[in-house]
Amino acid sequence: MSKITAAITAVGGYVPDYVLTNQELEKLVETTDEWIMTRTGIKERRILKGEGKGTSELCVPVALEICKKRGITPEDIDLLIVATVTPDMVFPATANVVTDKIGAKNAFGFDISAACSGFLYALDTGAKFIESGKYKKVMVIGADKMSSIIDYTDRTTCIIFGDGAGGVLLEPNTEGFGLVDSVLKSDGHGREFLNMKAGGSNYPASAETVANRQHYVFQEGKTVFKYAVANMADAARTVMDRNQLTAADVAWLVPHQANLRIISATADHMGLPKEKTMINIHRFGNTTAGTIPLCLWEWEPQLKKGDNLILAAFGGGFTWGASYVKWAYDGKKA
Ligand code: UT7
Repeated sequence: MSKITAAITAVGGYVPDYVLTNQELEKLVETTDEWIMTRTGIKERRILKGEGKGTSELCVPVALEICKKRGITPEDIDLLIVATVTPDMVFPATANVVTDKIGAKNAFGFDISAACSGFLYALDTGAKFIESGKYKKVMVIGADKMSSIIDYTDRTTCIIFGDGAGGVLLEPNTEGFGLVDSVLKSDGHGREFLNMKAGGSNYPASAETVANRQHYVFQEGKTVFKYAVANMADAARTVMDRNQLTAADVAWLVPHQANLRIISATADHMGLPKEKTMINIHRFGNTTAGTIPLCLWEWEPQLKKGDNLILAAFGGGFTWGASYVKWAYDGKKA
């Protein structure tokens, strides 16, 4: 019997309507459109507004779009994995909330917390369930409502992040399409430089943690930048080398969208031109686990069966990695 691989058979994406521009941020903190553009490449990001609306609200339209495109119902889904660091609640998992909201009665689900690398970790995990032969339809969504943990008085972080979600359906394939290989890494030493200190079991929410603004993202940008450039490029190169892929063999780099300068450094290290690099950071900013699937969603019409894609990410943890995906269908027909 031929080996079962996990092919991506449909893609969905969702960003909320509200557009937070650099001009609006200029009114909130001491910054300029020019500084943000030159240092990050971000022009605007999307924000989910409304009381009681969490990350599951971003996931629901993604899941429904995927079902519609693939011609299945939510009841056909066996497993839903949601990668997020902004779950609706500490528990239960956002995946459980989403399966309930969409009526995926036959699915079990869980969340993965790996920050900006969350989608890569979840994709690899979901693929293992497909490769086992036991599961036929696994949905993997990367979603974050970063605005819920951003301090809009901190100019070093509020200019970067936005809200959004994207996802894919994984199905068994016996022709070698889908997830071929991946390199996944983590180093907990990095928690010092990028974290949200309170709200977990170390420092449960208290009047003091709120007063100290510890329920917001803290980032030592320069250090994270340095590690991101080195490790994202290294992981992408490793996955290319061990699969004997040259730059000419790679159709697309699908990079995590944290900073345009990190994306460019990764593409350069792989020997890939800008034309082969998916970039939408200027419109959506950094949506953490959402960036990579949002790129796949936007570029889907241009993707062709057999295209070699390298997905790469770096983020909080530290976590990082790269995956090699052989695209399974002509995007135009989707
Ligand atoms: O996705 C998760 C992983 N995260 C990342 O990959 C992000 C990695 N880090 C970065 O993208 C960049 O480090 C930032 C965009 C966060 C910051 O850019 P930078 O070029 O590293 O700036 P910096 O932190 O070295 O700051 C340079 C200067 C400082 O002023 P002084 O000390 O030189 O006077 C900052 O205070 O820019 C100042 N600055 C700002 N100025 C205007 C910092 N933020 C701003 C701002 N507007 N928003």
